Amino acid sequence: MNIVESTVNNRVGDNITINNFPENKPKEITADDLRLQTPQVPAVFTGRSKLVEEAVNILCGTNQVHIGILGAGGIGKTSVALHIMEDPLIKEKFAERCYFIPCEMLPDATVLIQGLVQASGLQVAQGKGPLDVLLAYLKGDQKVLLILDNFETPWSSGARLKSRI
Ligand SMILES: Nc1ncnc2c1ncn2[C@@H]1O[C@H](COP(=O)(O)OP(=O)(O)O)[C@@H](O)[C@H]1O
Ligand SMILES: [Mg+2]
Repeated sequence: MNIVESTVNNRVGDNITINNFPENKPKEITADDLRLQTPQVPAVFTGRSKLVEEAVNILCGTNQVHIGILGAGGIGKTSVALHIMEDPLIKEKFAERCYFIPCEMLPDATVLIQGLVQASGLQVAQGKGPLDVLLAYLKGDQKVLLILDNFETPWSSGARLKSRI
């Protein structure tokens, strides 16, 4: 398993159109749905403390980072992510603004954005798009940690965002 770090600029292209809701759109994913799908932090966790520490240092030592945790299924990626989230330094920096997002429930960009809005408890006022609301939150002064578990699901879907988030 390896951790890939990249510092990113979180500017997002301005001209993303969200228009792929099907006619009979399925029930919207709620924050409770996401919580129910979030695994417990595994109590048995051996041999990965260096990896967790490395990720915590990256996340706490810089302002804007993406970290990819890559590896085969079952190797322990989700467990590492959950332990990163539990780390005291992470809690100190991000407080309650740490969100574990089980992306296997969010198969394309539209539902991913909707899920992120739900998980963050954001309200979308009339006349505003969910992406605008989400971006305003992510670009705000408060630091936010998003753990996008199984991100390959929305990323690989046909309805992928054309721009970078
Ligand atoms: N460091 C570890 N020590 C002991 N068991 C682990 C460790 N990491 C993962 N596991 C166990 O291995 C299984 C798969 O881990 P998981 O994190 O779901 O893998 P992945 O997300 O890569 O598919 C789970 O049952 C988990 O509890
Ligand atoms: Mg996993």
